[in-house]
Amino acid sequence: MADTPGHEQYTRNMVTGASTADVAVILIDARKGILTQTMRHSFLVSLLGIKHIVLAVNKMDLVEYEEKTFREIVSAYEKFASQLTFETITAIPLSALEGDNVIAPSTNTPWYEGPSLITQLETVQTTEDLVEKPFRMPVQWVNRPNLDFRGFSGTVSSGSIKVGDGIVEPTSGQSSKVREIVTFDGNLDEAIAGQAVTITLEDEIDISRGDVLCALQDRPATADQFEAKLVWMSDEELLPSRNYILKLGTTTSSARVTALKHKINVNTLEKTAAKTLELNEIGVCNFALDKAISFDPYQENRKTGSFILIDRFSNATVGAGVIDFALRRAENIHWQSVDIHKDARAEQKGQRPAVLWFTGLSGSGKSTIANALEKKLHSIGKHTYLLDGDNVRHGLNKDLGFTDADRVENIRRVGETAKLFVDAGLITLVSFISPFRSERQMARNLMEEGEFLEVFVDTPLEICEQRDIKGLYAKARAGEIKNFTGIDSDYERPENAEIIIDGANTAIEDAADIIIAELKSRGMI
Ligand code: ADX
Repeated sequence: MADTPGHEQYTRNMVTGASTADVAVILIDARKGILTQTMRHSFLVSLLGIKHIVLAVNKMDLVEYEEKTFREIVSAYEKFASQLTFETITAIPLSALEGDNVIAPSTNTPWYEGPSLITQLETVQTTEDLVEKPFRMPVQWVNRPNLDFRGFSGTVSSGSIKVGDGIVEPTSGQSSKVREIVTFDGNLDEAIAGQAVTITLEDEIDISRGDVLCALQDRPATADQFEAKLVWMSDEELLPSRNYILKLGTTTSSARVTALKHKINVNTLEKTAAKTLELNEIGVCNFALDKAISFDPYQENRKTGSFILIDRFSNATVGAGVIDFALRRAENIHWQSVDIHKDARAEQKGQRPAVLWFTGLSGSGKSTIANALEKKLHSIGKHTYLLDGDNVRHGLNKDLGFTDADRVENIRRVGETAKLFVDAGLITLVSFISPFRSERQMARNLMEEGEFLEVFVDTPLEICEQRDIKGLYAKARAGEIKNFTGIDSDYERPENAEIIIDGANTAIEDAADIIIAELKSRGMI
């Protein structure tokens, strides 16, 4: 972080017994006052949940130890910092070179009556006392050496627990009492934050790896949606509609950003509208997960309030987040069970519902083949529906363009729509470029096993471009259309398509027949 000489920022983690207090020293050059990076560093420190600031106004010797200069800097900083979440700001006039107020009070600053830097760092109040916080222990593994022993192993991340205390697994609401606290060196009466233990319970309750054991009286939030500040850490931009793997403690789930509310300019704290986040950008986002998980707001508990995001395909960590609060959107909406199910609807139609997901470049022949196939299916009495990119983009997805972020959302909506059509009992043909593996996989995951067939219409770009039925390739080459697939936007070839059609050398009717034959051989029609 230290990018300007004379302006550096140090973060120190002071461990005193079982309690920790994080203090950040923001170093300011008295000649320069508050700079952009002072604000940037302060914001990042605040984001990390650090509550105590030592404002070290250095190089006081170069401003003749003038009280007025010091006071002006301090009041400007306090004004700025009122937007952040610090609990204490202790400003100290310093000359690191001359040693003024570093260890002992300096005679050069008779007007300053506060502590020296060292005194302040040694005596700063420790409010971040992990042991004082509610008990939380993410379960690392379920220890089951034999039928008589079942213990839950992990490291106590906050609070303390005694034999006999009530605990709860908040996502299921199951509770029990602690029977034993087992460690390598024998049993304990009490365990506190930082200790690795195995806990056995009075009752048999269903707890697995990733669950969090919590104090019965002081539970965390459990929700499948929350607001968080997200720091983006990848060269590839955030795609809000994409499903990423979210890892919080020992829990993982699938998560996507449902709203990118704004990004924060770390230099000015200004909020600006954004559709995506680039490397090192910070945004305030709403997240939706595929299941409810337990967490605390980060400002209350750093251990149980922070998470990372992982890309499904590259396995790289692409983001890190701190949770602000739970969102209760879906709380009062329950899944409405209906009596007529997919099976009943399909049976009435005498068919097995399925999705035939066509993917390939623009002009590859997807839609033409899908259309020919639908006619054949229709003629043998099958009930079908064809969702086509060009058509759906005139209605449901009229608001979407061709940026990566919009394509991801396009496919997410189409995947969900296809799921509804399958639920209606239909053989659903989907014909979209669907250029990204991640979203094709997402669509596949929405369906049941064996219901989803990926049909890759593999036509080389040169041939699509030669055909140029809609004249779009010519326009893209002329720079009149931006982000055109195959030209200046990626197409990720399928790696595990069930059906591959050689689009350059297969007649339309033959392609449709190949798919019909495949459906028959799978017993789908
Ligand atoms: S997808 O990438 O989001 O799956 P979709 O299949 O809905 O694309 O739409 C592709 C169709 O939109 C193309 O067949 C073409 O007619 C038209 N189109 C317009 N602009 C573009 C573009 N920049 N890239 C690709 N197709 C485009």
